[in-house]
Amino acid sequence: MKAIIGKDIQQAKAFLEQGNVVGIPTETVYGLAGNAFDIEAVTKIFEVKNRPTFDPLIVHTNNFERLSSFVQYIPEKAFWLAEKFMPGPLTMLLPKQSSIPDLVTSGLDTVAVRIPNHPLTLDLLNNLSFPLAAPSANPFGYISPTSAQHVAKQLGDKIPYVLDGGDCTVGIESTIVGFENDEVIVYRKGGLAIEEIEKVVGKIKVNAHSSSNPKAPGMLKSHYSPRKDLVIFTGEKFDRNITEIGYLAFQEFNTQIPEENQLILSPSGDYKEAAKHLFAFMRQLDGQENIEKIYVELLPEENLGRAINDRLRRAATKI
Ligand code: TXA
Ligand code: MG
Repeated sequence: MKAIIGKDIQQAKAFLEQGNVVGIPTETVYGLAGNAFDIEAVTKIFEVKNRPTFDPLIVHTNNFERLSSFVQYIPEKAFWLAEKFMPGPLTMLLPKQSSIPDLVTSGLDTVAVRIPNHPLTLDLLNNLSFPLAAPSANPFGYISPTSAQHVAKQLGDKIPYVLDGGDCTVGIESTIVGFENDEVIVYRKGGLAIEEIEKVVGKIKVNAHSSSNPKAPGMLKSHYSPRKDLVIFTGEKFDRNITEIGYLAFQEFNTQIPEENQLILSPSGDYKEAAKHLFAFMRQLDGQENIEKIYVELLPEENLGRAINDRLRRAATKI
């Protein structure tokens, strides 16, 4: 099978209704979608991605009212956040109904819910009678895809169709929040800055990637990794003639390294622009033949810089 890349919602709909999985665009990263109510379709998602079944999936819908068919209740603060940020790069953990198979949530009693802000996918969801379970459409552990071509290149021989919605505008995965005793807790830093969430619900707790008892188990392992060694830059001195080092910079070139080996996330220092470029640039350096090892610069620990740094640290080679 070789995936067709296209913009035909009816074709994507037909594959999904047959229990197949297809690539879908969202504003964060591309998803690998299947009918969230259909155990066979969900099983296919795990198989295609080569993802362990203890890592639960996010369920996507187009309309907050539709949550009533798979969520038990909605805490007040979830309403406030939904009003402000849905559709958008926010995922909420809510108590699930039995309509969502345990396989989707890896046996947890909450389901991760998101309304993606992409016109094609919202239109597709509007045409479907079921929500879509969808992890990021990358092989487990590799960099997430931000274009239809990324998806087709890596999973194209395992899926029939990729719905092409262009390049993702946010570029990093959604921020995941849960609710405990009226408190909002962040379990994954992502495309919606924590500062934005705090404007709506006040100070929140960040529990992202705690290695002891993760709410988001998938976030534990080495993730987002390129194939080459990736190292956080901490002021190393290089020989100016070095040709096998690649460099991912925030605003400016590293003057020690040839410029053709470097990519700049955002010359103006704009976090949103940096996030949009992050994964595509990591892929580009990973694919550049002369480069053997990639150095990356951390961003300031604020705003989306926190979510970007989180991905860089987790992509870094563990020695
Ligand atoms: O932006 C996104 O969120 C993208 C697009 C496609 O929507 N999706 C995405 O899915 O990043 P995925 O599967 O790559 O990451 C979902 C994360 C996983 O780390 C998983 O552990 C966590 O969400 N998760 C899912 N359900 C959960 C639950 N019930 N409790 C805690 N964590 C959950
Ligand atoms: Mg992922």
